[in-house]
Amino acid sequence: MKLICIENYAEMSVVTGKIIVDKIRTTQSLTLGFATGSTPKGVYNYLIEDHRANGTSYQQVKSVNLDEYIGLKAQDPNSYHYFMRQNLFDHLDIKQNHTHIPNGAAGDLEQECLRYEQLIKALGGVDLQLLGIGQNGHIGFNEPGTPFSSRTQIVTLARNTREANSRFFNSLEDVPTHAITMGIASILESKEILLLVSGEKKAEALLKFMNGEISEEFPASALKHHQNVTVIADRDALKYI
Ligand code: F6R
Repeated sequence: MKLICIENYAEMSVVTGKIIVDKIRTTQSLTLGFATGSTPKGVYNYLIEDHRANGTSYQQVKSVNLDEYIGLKAQDPNSYHYFMRQNLFDHLDIKQNHTHIPNGAAGDLEQECLRYEQLIKALGGVDLQLLGIGQNGHIGFNEPGTPFSSRTQIVTLARNTREANSRFFNSLEDVPTHAITMGIASILESKEILLLVSGEKKAEALLKFMNGEISEEFPASALKHHQNVTVIADRDALKYI
């Protein structure tokens, strides 16, 4: 595992953005794994700026997202479909049918999990996966206690995850209780993983990740089984390291 220590969020976004752009420019056809939430927004802004300034093209890029809330339609402003369009896809030349996000409004959610897992396989797997981390160590929406062998699945969100994400909703009650997420085994099949950690709120999680044991009680620790993980963390997140 490689650790890149960075001064602040802005720098983290640029360093990560450059890694992604470099990959796009040097790889014929690429499948990127995207995350949502606050952490990757700066990276997405970098990609948008770079696309405008340097013309980096996403015509050959395919993408899969980690997760989606159950019960929210793609048009819902709190859905991750909406988030990705607003914060990235609408500003690039990526083909809409090349972008994939689990459908949290599917009639048959079990079937949707299978479909998504097969889709990732059909794409040849994820070449570069971007990850954030929850304060409780979740990756994707795989909460503590999730088996490392898990595949794309329906999960119940932990109360502290719903509380953390309630900042995007009118109230805690409005935050969905369930989500579809790529499983831990699905994430670990990515060829390369970038784990972004920013801010003091994540300092304890980063400490646990770096120094704690590998345990299903701390989902991110599964990444230690992976051969090509780069952690990009800023000074506030590195407070206890
Ligand atoms: C989002 C996701 C989550 C977030 C995590 C951190 O697609 O999979 O694991 O990465 O909850 O969220 P932020 O970045 O908002 O602190």
